[in-house]
Amino acid sequence: MTYVVNESCIKCKLMDCVEVCPVDCFYEGANMLIIHPDECIDCGVCEPECPVEAIKPDTEPGLEKWLGINAEYAKIWPNITIKREPPADSKDWEGVAGKEKYFSPEPGEGD
Ligand code: SF4
Ligand code: F3S
Repeated sequence: MTYVVNESCIKCKLMDCVEVCPVDCFYEGANMLIIHPDECIDCGVCEPECPVEAIKPDTEPGLEKWLGINAEYAKIWPNITIKREPPADSKDWEGVAGKEKYFSPEPGEGD
């Protein structure tokens, strides 16, 4: 089992999640973060930290695609453990449906 970041994170990228993870397993893309499924110890601490409920246990139905994306990009995106400022328009994207089309495969800055 692991926790998974889903499309709700895209363009919100609030980064409240990164500093609570005891094993530093968040990785940064250009417009979202993801969790390395082989590093996550399933502690669940990050789930309530995300204001837009983008973090879910992989036991929830319908997350297969996002589990694949988390696993794939955790191998190539940089690690992030320190919160930075979210994007200036982050609030505009909270709760917006259909954000998957905005997914960027480009890496973020990392720490
Ligand atoms: Fe890190 Fe725990 Fe969240 Fe996994 S569930 S990403 S170990 S804080
Ligand atoms: Fe994304 Fe939520 Fe973390 S919006 S960056 S999963 S706090």
